[in-house]
Amino acid sequence: MAAIVEVRNVSRRFGSFLAVNACSLEVEAGSITGLIGPNGAGKSTLFNMVAGNLRPSSGSILLSGEDVTGLRAHELFARGLLRTFQIAHEFSNMSVIENLMMAPGAQTGESLVSAWFRPGRVRREEAGIAARAREVLSFLNLGQVAGELAGNLSGGQKKLLELGRTMMVDARVVLLDEIAAGVNRTLLKDLAANIVRLNRELGYTFFVIEHDMDFIAELCDPVIVMACGTVMTQGHIESIRQDERVIEAYFGGSPTGHSLTHGAADRA
Ligand SMILES: Nc1ncnc2c1ncn2[C@@H]1O[C@H](COP(=O)(O)OP(=O)(O)OP(=O)(O)O)[C@@H](O)[C@H]1O
Ligand SMILES: [Mg+2]
Repeated sequence: MAAIVEVRNVSRRFGSFLAVNACSLEVEAGSITGLIGPNGAGKSTLFNMVAGNLRPSSGSILLSGEDVTGLRAHELFARGLLRTFQIAHEFSNMSVIENLMMAPGAQTGESLVSAWFRPGRVRREEAGIAARAREVLSFLNLGQVAGELAGNLSGGQKKLLELGRTMMVDARVVLLDEIAAGVNRTLLKDLAANIVRLNRELGYTFFVIEHDMDFIAELCDPVIVMACGTVMTQGHIESIRQDERVIEAYFGGSPTGHSLTHGAADRA
């Protein structure tokens, strides 16, 4: 299997503090790879660099073998790498289907110039975008709420809609930073099932930060563990859960850290 994302010796400094420190890792094409680690380990900082929201201080990042270090989020987006964002406040007063139609990259007819000179083409494209949005909603089982205001969706349905926005463009790699947070168990299962379907049926690669170990265990293989800005270990979740260094990283410094397993929490 080939790496779709490669992080090579990447560091990120904030003042004198190294949030990410000589970190190297690979995400295999077609995988659902997990990224876990204690609070402050540098996971989100690493994601921000991979997604082009933050520049590395040093090191390089490759996408399908191409050096993309320093490219901006929209340039990576055009290459099929994207991360989900919470539905912004201003979109909560738009319907669910409109939210999908507004997804960045979904619009080809937004330029005023082309709307003015080629209105027929724009109308055809709009119809195409609407059709795609309806397909996305039916894939995610959200068809019945298509006309509902996005702001009225439940937390879990909003997460599905965020995922749906990635389906409006031809995503290849999707980064998910703690999408399970605050989602109830039932919708969490829906969310996990949809991630698996996108992976198997549409070939999406996922790179997933999550503190919920059951969610990670159900979805991710392999799992990469970050601590103190770099990779501590990686492998199958079962071996990770039994790794003394990982347990120590979670519980060594802070007794309020997230539990790896119920057993580990009991021992801590
Ligand atoms: N913009 C910033 N300026 C200064 N320090 C930052 C900045 N962003 C992150 N940090 C620091 O870098 C370290 C890593 O933060 P990061 O958010 O990457 O951790 P994380 O692994 O995502 O943690 P969590 O699990 O709590 O989300 C933390 O100590 C954080 O305070
Ligand atoms: Mg984080």
